[in-house]
Amino acid sequence: MFDKLMKVAGIFSEALRDAFTFLRFNAYSPWVDKSKRSFYKIIIEAHTIEKGLSLQDPKQLFGKDKIRFVMNALSRYDVSHSTLPAHMALGALEAYVNFHTAAGVTDPLLDEINCFLREWEGKVPRPWKGGIKDYAFESSLPPDLQHLMASRSSIRTLKPAPLRPEAVFEAITMAQLAPSQCNRQSSRVHLYQDPKRIQQLLALQGGSRGFAESVGNLFVVSSEVCAWGGPGQRNQAYVDGALFAMCLMFACRSMGWGTCPLNLAVDHKTEKAIRHAGGIPEGERLIMMIAFGEPVSQQTKVAFSPRRPVAEIATLHA
Ligand SMILES: Cc1cc2nc3c(=O)[nH]c(=O)nc-3n(C[C@H](O)[C@H](O)[C@H](O)COP(=O)(O)O)c2cc1C
Repeated sequence: MFDKLMKVAGIFSEALRDAFTFLRFNAYSPWVDKSKRSFYKIIIEAHTIEKGLSLQDPKQLFGKDKIRFVMNALSRYDVSHSTLPAHMALGALEAYVNFHTAAGVTDPLLDEINCFLREWEGKVPRPWKGGIKDYAFESSLPPDLQHLMASRSSIRTLKPAPLRPEAVFEAITMAQLAPSQCNRQSSRVHLYQDPKRIQQLLALQGGSRGFAESVGNLFVVSSEVCAWGGPGQRNQAYVDGALFAMCLMFACRSMGWGTCPLNLAVDHKTEKAIRHAGGIPEGERLIMMIAFGEPVSQQTKVAFSPRRPVAEIATLHA
C-alpha cells in the first residue's frame, strides 16, 4: 500500500518538475539564450513559407505577415550562432519571389524582399539551402537503408483516392518491426478513409491547411497508457509511439506512397475532441496524425527543410 502511495505522490511530484523544467527552458522563457530562441523561431516561420510553396497550387502572395516577420527576425539574428536559419529564410524568400515572378505577379512586398535579399548577398554564402526542392518518386526503391531513408520527404501533394485497406495493413505490419520498450507494443494506429471524418479530424489538427482537401487516407497514431506505470515511465508512450510512427512513414514510402506527419501538439480539450471524432479509446494518448496516399505525380516539389551540420547537434564526450 505504501509503495502504491509513493508512486502516486511520485507522479504528482514529477508532473510538477516537468512543468518547472518546461517553464524554465521553453521557447518563451527569458532565461533561455536569445540566439537559441531566435534560431528556432526563424526556422519555424521560414518553414511555413517553404511549406506554402510546396503545395499543389500555392496561393498568390500568401503569408505576407510571415514574410515580414522572417525578414525582421533575420535582421536581428546573430548568424555566428548558426547559419541555418539564414539559409532557410533567404532560400524561402528567394523561392517566394521566383514563384511570383514566374506567375507574372507584381507587388510592393516582392520589391521589398528583393531589396532584403540584395542586402544579404555575400553575408551568407550561396547556395542558400531553403525554399523548395524537386522530389521524385522513383519506381524502384534504393536497396540500401541510407538511401532509402533519404528517399522520404514530407509530401503535401497527395491523391485523395483511398488506398486498399489490405495494402495499408501490409504497411502497418511492416511498421510493427519498430522496437518498443520490453517489446510491449503499446502503439495503436487508427485508419480513416471517409472524407467527411478526415476533414473533421484535420480541422481539429490545424497543420494541414492548404492541402487538407487532398487527404483521402489518414492515420492517427496513439499509444496505450496502461502499458506504462510509475512516475519514471510518464513519457514513454510518446517514445514508443514516435518510433512506431517513423517506421510507419518508411513503410508507406516502401509501398510507393507519400506521407506527411501532422503534429498533435494539442491541449487536453482538443485531444478529447479528436478522440471523440476518431472513435479512439480514452486510455490512448495521441502521438501524431499521418496524412498519406499516392503522390499526385512521380515528380513533385517538397519543402527544402535543410538539416543542421552534424557538429551543431552532436557532442563527442571524453
Ligand atoms: C511530429 C511532427 C509533426 C509535424 N507536423 C506537421 C504539420 O502539422 N503540418 C505539416 O505540414 N508538416 C508537419 N510536419 C512535417 C515537418 O515539417 C517535416 O518533417 C520537416 O520540415 C522535415 O522535412 P521532411 O519530413 O521533408 O524531411 C511534422 C513533422 C513531425 C515529425
